[in-house]
Amino acid sequence: MEQEKVIVIDFGGQYNQLVARRVRECQVYCEIYSYRTPLETIRAMKPKGIILTGGPNSCYEAGAPTCSRELFEMGIPVLGLCYGAQLMNHVLGGCVEKAPVREYGKTEVQIDADTPLFDNVGRTTTCWMSHFDYISQPAPGFTVTAHTADCPVAADECREKGLYAIQFHPEVLHTVEGSKMLFNFVRGICGCSGTWRMDSFVENAITAIRDKVGSGKVLLALSGGVDSSVAAGLLSRAVGNQLTCVFVDHGLLRKDEGDEVEAVFGSSGNFDLNFIRVNARQRYYDKLAGVTEPEAKRKIIGEEFIRVFEEEARKIGAVDFLAQGTIYPDVVESGLGGESAVIKSHHNVGGLPDYVDFKEIIEPLRNLFKDEVRKAGLELGLPEKLVYRQPFPGPGLGIRIIGEVTAEKVRIVQEADYIYREEIARAGLDRSIGQYFAALTNMRSVGVMGDERTYDYAVALRAVNTIDFMTAEAAQIPYEVLQTVMSRIINEVKGVNRVFYDLTSKPPGTIEFE
Ligand code: XMP
Repeated sequence: MEQEKVIVIDFGGQYNQLVARRVRECQVYCEIYSYRTPLETIRAMKPKGIILTGGPNSCYEAGAPTCSRELFEMGIPVLGLCYGAQLMNHVLGGCVEKAPVREYGKTEVQIDADTPLFDNVGRTTTCWMSHFDYISQPAPGFTVTAHTADCPVAADECREKGLYAIQFHPEVLHTVEGSKMLFNFVRGICGCSGTWRMDSFVENAITAIRDKVGSGKVLLALSGGVDSSVAAGLLSRAVGNQLTCVFVDHGLLRKDEGDEVEAVFGSSGNFDLNFIRVNARQRYYDKLAGVTEPEAKRKIIGEEFIRVFEEEARKIGAVDFLAQGTIYPDVVESGLGGESAVIKSHHNVGGLPDYVDFKEIIEPLRNLFKDEVRKAGLELGLPEKLVYRQPFPGPGLGIRIIGEVTAEKVRIVQEADYIYREEIARAGLDRSIGQYFAALTNMRSVGVMGDERTYDYAVALRAVNTIDFMTAEAAQIPYEVLQTVMSRIINEVKGVNRVFYDLTSKPPGTIEFE
């Protein structure tokens, strides 16, 4: 049976992946495509609905991202959000211009009409606005369904054609009833039955992998993190011992991590798969010597991964497929999912070298968000301890050491991080904080220890709470815990004389440092 699907068309706003996330929360499968995607491709996907996202442009300016009139004439319901709402009205003959008053932030919206989009929504409802243009004249055939004090068309629609436009952002949590509106659109107006479930994902993915791989051999890049472990579980269910997992110890792992990964996945572990551990520590340090630019570091680490895999593949012989645990936020942040800017090249996506000596790359988790990956992991019967492990990026400590990576810096950050994790667990906070780690700043400063002058590194502690890793807030760790961590790090880790706690949320920061 074909998976019912809603398509999000991306016009360049940073929060567009949230739209997809909210649609999936309605149990409807959803993917993001660039506004440049040809109409024929969209039609061929047979979406049950289309959502046009926000974006930073003015739709009436020459060269602004646009869409064709035919998009609205396919008989598929369309919901336009913010820029998408303006574009829908503009393309269909309404008028969009610079608003006399720019709206930004939480705004009271008055609902003026009974419409399926606002079913069960209060007549006055708080919504998140962020726009400098407005719809001054709805397109012919459209009826205004909501307004605010400064915005005469906060929503309009042409119900008989299934076209709905809203000026605010239902995808952000500040729009109190936003999820309800998106539910009304996808489950009500588009008529989706809500069959998207993790168990159907797992079954479909296993079938798709078997179809693609046939009797071929697959090599999986296993880091021991949540994503690649779930990918290993999925692939081993799909193709059994046609799969070999290669774990590269790049010398940028957390303290003792290499041995821990081997304990779970190696011959004495609880998985029935071929496992190879490659010690590539020195090789990485040599390649990274003198390199300080974050993207350059990521690319080197990513490329070296592939080179090691290629070598292992040649040893095994006749390996056609390389599998990776890439997940959706990696794809979006690498600028490959739609129109958003490249934030960083995730080593397993944008960081791939141009030439890769495999027939094909398999990324079975490419369309899942982190919490969905975890659900898939549980569905596959992976141990909870592994599934709820905190995420660890592929480039490892390489992106938690600012500036040049050296063996000495790796030692410092490994030891500091170990102490931090130990104290967080001792305080009973390890399951409640989304992600936490120590990083090494490139800063050295003067201190005093035992009457002696010191000139040593500063360690930064990071801890964030996040639902989907696209946005995050710094966690409020009790001061006593931070103080214990600080004094243990300074006393126990040679080369450190200062400890900072990072208060930055994402955005404007990212979770990692590089
Ligand atoms: P950022 O730093 O982008 O991190 O806010 C978001 C989440 O992604 C993880 N991360 C990565 N994971 N390869 C990965 O597999 C990468 O290159 C990478 N960079 C960041 C990060 O740990 C956080 O959970």
